[in-house]
Amino acid sequence: MSTDNKAIIYLDRNENQYGPAPKCFDVLRNIDSVELYEYSRDFARGVKSRLSERLAKDFGIAEKNVMVGYGGEDILKQAVHCYIHKGDKIMIPAYSWWYYKKISDEKGGIKIEYPIVEGKDSFYYDIEGMIKVYREEKPKLVLISSPNNPTGNRLEIEQLMYVLEEMKDTVVILDEAYTLFYNKDNSHLKKLVEKYPNLIIIRTFSKYYGLAGIRIGFALMGDNHADFNMFSARYLGYNRLTELIGLAALDSADYYSEMREKMTADMDMFFNEFNAMPGFKAFKSYSNFILVEIPEQIKDGLKKYLTERNMIVKFMAEDGLFKHLRITIGTQEQNKLLMKMIKDYLKENN
Ligand SMILES: Cc1ncc(COP(=O)(O)O)c(C=O)c1O
Repeated sequence: MSTDNKAIIYLDRNENQYGPAPKCFDVLRNIDSVELYEYSRDFARGVKSRLSERLAKDFGIAEKNVMVGYGGEDILKQAVHCYIHKGDKIMIPAYSWWYYKKISDEKGGIKIEYPIVEGKDSFYYDIEGMIKVYREEKPKLVLISSPNNPTGNRLEIEQLMYVLEEMKDTVVILDEAYTLFYNKDNSHLKKLVEKYPNLIIIRTFSKYYGLAGIRIGFALMGDNHADFNMFSARYLGYNRLTELIGLAALDSADYYSEMREKMTADMDMFFNEFNAMPGFKAFKSYSNFILVEIPEQIKDGLKKYLTERNMIVKFMAEDGLFKHLRITIGTQEQNKLLMKMIKDYLKENN
């Protein structure tokens, strides 16, 4: 953290406040200068990089079906820029990461929203509604986010496959940036990539692995995307230093599962505490953030109160979600402090 923002707690952008595993810092301490002054020779070995090779091995898929990029953001942008041309239709969840709309706009795509619906204690994809929109609109590209930002809901694997069966004639991007906070089982990746050659699954080191600052994301993709993959490949290699940090993160499963347990417990704490407060409604989330509807009349006051105390959470301001906070699950200490601040605010303003 830089000195000027030392005291500010940012629980607004879904970064992982626990930070990366100790092995990642060992890489920085022990870096061999050759990693810095030479290009990699991975391309000559017939692979993109050590990282793509490792990911392919871990997920049991061919290296040619793995893409590496400068964060999930970069891969999303590359895919949309590659596949969407002016006037092409792109299907986007009704509530979703704002960036999906931005990249569609960059290419002059026509954004078609499909439904995400509010249920009793969670949002959910309206699967039949989604398929109906697909059949009517025949989009060039479909974006699915699971878990979805900001609603936190996910598609179960059976639901996903049901949808993918329908969408075989288009490019489907499945954004799984947040999946590892709740999903320990990666076995669906191989199955999906082999069964659906039109699919691109995007993941990142930014969230679960606590490495948003080093900008690494990757995609696993079906065989239809060979040209896109070739277009995106960097023959002089990738960032050798950050790739080593990523590899060290992959070698630190114990560190991350301990962290996951703490975050899951705090997610439950937020869910239960908010749902016990009159006028508040927290939605079940499978990510590292939770969406909470708050009484509309306290929105401005609470925002001011928290900001003055250097506590930053995301006050949503979009159609349908304007009474909502999106809170990133921080460390146990930060989460407790935030909860206390919100309760103090309510006491002081009652
Ligand atoms: C849904 C979703 N996908 C992808 C990303 C991209 O993350 P990164 O570019 O850091 O990998 C984000 C970042 O907030 C996100 O919310």
